[in-house]
Amino acid sequence: MLACGYVGKGRLAEPEEIIACIEEHFSGAEPVADLPLQGKNVLVTAGPTREQVDPVRYFTNYSSGKMGYAIAEAAARMGASVTLVSGPTALEKPAGVHVIEVISTEDMYQAVMKEYPEQDLVIKSAAVADYTPRIKYDEKMKKNKENWSVEMEKTTDILSVLGQKKERQILVGFAAETGNLEKYALDKLKRKNLDMIVANNVAQEDAGFSVDTNRVIIYKKDGSSIEYPLQSKEKVAEEVLLQAMELMAL
Ligand code: CTP
Repeated sequence: MLACGYVGKGRLAEPEEIIACIEEHFSGAEPVADLPLQGKNVLVTAGPTREQVDPVRYFTNYSSGKMGYAIAEAAARMGASVTLVSGPTALEKPAGVHVIEVISTEDMYQAVMKEYPEQDLVIKSAAVADYTPRIKYDEKMKKNKENWSVEMEKTTDILSVLGQKKERQILVGFAAETGNLEKYALDKLKRKNLDMIVANNVAQEDAGFSVDTNRVIIYKKDGSSIEYPLQSKEKVAEEVLLQAMELMAL
């Protein structure tokens, strides 16, 4: 029998929680028999960040947020207390997840650092903007010159700071690459002091940004790696969490 009406201590579920429960039931997603992440705090970042240059223009990337949202939903299904720090996306907020909406890399950095001390597991799937305009204009730039050069400066590498400040947290990064996947992913794993990195080739049409599927290779700091076939982002989310749980000795 499908029971979607009650959550936790007899609390009546919100309408969107009931819909999410019914959708999950009919989606073919693997039912989670127990709640392996119960009592654990999981922080997920998702989506792109957006760097404004004037009130009507910004720089961003093609990230849809689907991968991070799928991870947040799967972690909540597994019983975790989930915080999702999300850049601007068109996605619905996942039920049962604490969502913090941010715009820029700096906003994401502030939100993540505030939540970090309480977390057991952090998964940084956001496609963070690496550069931001050095000057941000208060007024719309007028079209009064033939060429316009915008000088960009580096943003804070949030994941690197998390790696430096890591205490008991398990830290999982993503590597979005268009070539040399293994080399770049292993370099990021080491340089950012991660426990695990999920690498994908975003140049492939059926994997990476915007699409519903992904093809990933997971590299762990003990030198092991697992290569997965093309699968739904929901399935990839479950695999990422299962591998992270192994690192948490769960
Ligand atoms: N990341 C971050 N803060 C940044 C840039 C990246 O936290 N300013 C995180 C991403 O969320 C991801 C990981 O670092 O988990 C790798 O991101 P990626 O864009 O693949 O690599 P970069 O470190 O930006 O390096 P490069 O652009 O040279 O590949």
